[in-house]
Amino acid sequence: MKSGPDKSDDGAQARPFCGSTPEPRPFAGLSSRDRGTEPGSPAETSAEPEGRMAEYTLVADRSGELRLSAEDKEARYREVGAQIEAVLEGEPDLLAGMATVVCLLHNAFPYFFWTGFYRRVAADELLVGPYQGTLGCLRIRFDRGVCGACARERRTLVGPDVSAFSGHIAGDAASASEIVVPVLDAAGELIAVLDVDSTLLDAFDETDRVHLERIVGLLRGREARPVVATG
Ligand code: SME
Repeated sequence: MKSGPDKSDDGAQARPFCGSTPEPRPFAGLSSRDRGTEPGSPAETSAEPEGRMAEYTLVADRSGELRLSAEDKEARYREVGAQIEAVLEGEPDLLAGMATVVCLLHNAFPYFFWTGFYRRVAADELLVGPYQGTLGCLRIRFDRGVCGACARERRTLVGPDVSAFSGHIAGDAASASEIVVPVLDAAGELIAVLDVDSTLLDAFDETDRVHLERIVGLLRGREARPVVATG
């Protein structure tokens, strides 16, 4: 979620950081029907702050119906991994690579509710990159959230129940579990993290970790700036 300017900053860079001033909002990603209200009803309209668009994104409930069997998950990762490799073959641009990875992953797995990259834009700061899902928070410092912890530690973190992770940033209250994978360049420097959230509890396991680490590894060697042909 977005928050007001971080008062602990020196003021010269009064940017909104996530997780510094929590503002829980209930089930912002659920449709009005999921909330038990009809669109346009007083209960529905009064729930939305003035000037903000209501969100009617359909999300999975927590029943587990979107959970894949171990075999199906493995097979789908193999399939989508090969697809990503094929699409990115010969494409040197990193942003295009990230957008492609996010799109193909998000559409391959029904339990992926929010799928996106946070790019490292300073020594200890992440900025949202290509993503699919409901509105994600923009900036995350390394000392905030699961993404910040992953960036600091440069290792994949799995949160089976985000409510149990004290530093978790609730970008959307519908998220129940998440996995965050570091993205390293050829020199081993952290350039981004891949964050995937699910509305299912305990949605991510070793299969997700292994395949997502391999998939973000496919981005290595791509250029962060557009490659412009000259002459
Ligand atoms: N849940 C993440 C923040 C990113 S958004 O929710 C998309 C975290 O705790 O780092």
